[in-house]
Amino acid sequence: MTNKIKKRYNRVAGFYDILDKPMEMAASKWREKLLSGAKGKVLEVGIGTGRNIPYYPDNVELTGIDFSPKMVEIARGKAKNRKNVKILEIDAENLEFKDNTFDTVVTSCVFCSVPNPVQGLKEIKRVCKNGGKIVMLEHVKSHKKMVGPLMDAFNFIPLHIYGANINRETVDNLLKAGFKPQNIRVENLWLDIVKLIRINNKKE
Ligand SMILES: C[S@@+](CC[C@H](N)C(=O)[O-])C[C@H]1O[C@@H](n2cnc3c(N)ncnc32)[C@H](O)[C@@H]1O
Repeated sequence: MTNKIKKRYNRVAGFYDILDKPMEMAASKWREKLLSGAKGKVLEVGIGTGRNIPYYPDNVELTGIDFSPKMVEIARGKAKNRKNVKILEIDAENLEFKDNTFDTVVTSCVFCSVPNPVQGLKEIKRVCKNGGKIVMLEHVKSHKKMVGPLMDAFNFIPLHIYGANINRETVDNLLKAGFKPQNIRVENLWLDIVKLIRINNKKE
């Protein structure tokens, strides 16, 4: 499954920014909100073409990772005029960093695609420092009576085109990965589908 999804993202990498342009009109203000509080050593998981890069405060030390080599190449191009940015080809399910490395971990529209999301979230918990912040801008399955089943029914379309699911239960996956409900704050940005999730990474 991992290779299939990776291939799909490689396939769309060259025109991803064009495909995503309509969404970006709303997403740019969400990205600002997501990243304004990023500080210190920051890990962005699934950095894609690097759309978040312009929104980071200047003083962060950013490491972006993605498992698609084509995405990595494009993101490196976007990062070339910024100091303290590294983009690496790494799988979110096997983050090659020591425990407690990062002050902030960021994801945006990534946990719709990671083939084993619970494993990816466990890895984020591990590499983020105790008391560090994890911020996620993610779309998830709606819990509205009519909408949720429709998202299940049509999930195969985006999954087939570029590897994204529209029916992920990312908040439940956070609980499965060991995050405690009292450390998770969820804000709906669009209906109950696009969410800003803020986590205090308390390691009990
Ligand atoms: C929908 S794109 C979002 C890109 C970017 N975060 C943004 O906001 O525009 C999802 C990205 O996650 C990456 N991805 C999915 N599963 C991954 C994994 N297991 N490890 C690393 N990257 C992954 C894909 O290659 C793709 O670049």
